Amino acid sequence: MEIVICKTREEASKLAAKAIIDQVKAKPKSVLGLATGSTPVLMYKELGKAVKAKKVSFREVKSWNLDEYYGLAPTHDQSYRYFMNENLFKFIDINIKNTHVLNGLAKDPVKECKAYEAAIKRAGGIDLQVLGIGSDGHIAFNEPGTSLASRTSVVYLTPSTIKDNARLFFKGKMDEVPTRALSMGVGTICEAKKIILLAFGEGKQDAVKGMVEGGVSQFCTASALQMHPDAWVYCDEAAAKKLKLKYYYAWRSATKLGL
Ligand code: GLP
Repeated sequence: MEIVICKTREEASKLAAKAIIDQVKAKPKSVLGLATGSTPVLMYKELGKAVKAKKVSFREVKSWNLDEYYGLAPTHDQSYRYFMNENLFKFIDINIKNTHVLNGLAKDPVKECKAYEAAIKRAGGIDLQVLGIGSDGHIAFNEPGTSLASRTSVVYLTPSTIKDNARLFFKGKMDEVPTRALSMGVGTICEAKKIILLAFGEGKQDAVKGMVEGGVSQFCTASALQMHPDAWVYCDEAAAKKLKLKYYYAWRSATKLGL
């Protein structure tokens, strides 16, 4: 696991965007795994700028998102499909038909999850997966206590995630946040060839510490990334504050990235 520590989230977002642009330039038919949340928004803006400046094209890219709230229609303004359309897809030249988000209204959610996994496999697997991290160390919606071998399935949110997400989505109304979601599993995520995880701000300090320097445990599902051969964490100084070896990680990753 490589830890890239930047002074600001702006700087980290630019570097992470560069990793995606490099991937798509090297393989125009890349399969991307995408994430929602406040964290990747700046990076998505950078991708929009790069497309506008004709530095990269997503015309042949296919994408699969991590998760979706169970019970929300794709048109619901708090759904993750809506979020992706508004924060990324309308700013890049991707063919919307090539973008995939789990259907929160699926009549048979188990079938929906199985079909989602099968479609990713048929596309050749995910080349690059983008992740954020929950304040309890979760990735996608894989809460503490979820098997690190889990596959795409219906999952149950913890009260702390419901609270965190009420702040961002749902205008603070806890009782309107769905308590279940459809989510890629940790095992599914770890099959991506490359992973980049973004973490910003003091609120992610404990999650980052657990992911990087804690043991590999289902208590912090992001810690599974320690076992991945090509996982990169892009964080700001605030999120990296509790890391014991932060100066070593910063030096090593800056050297590898030629910074
Ligand atoms: C939700 C999403 C995660 C995301 C997390 C953090 O739980 N399912 O994919 O990483 O929120 O969100 P934020 O980036 O807003 O802190």
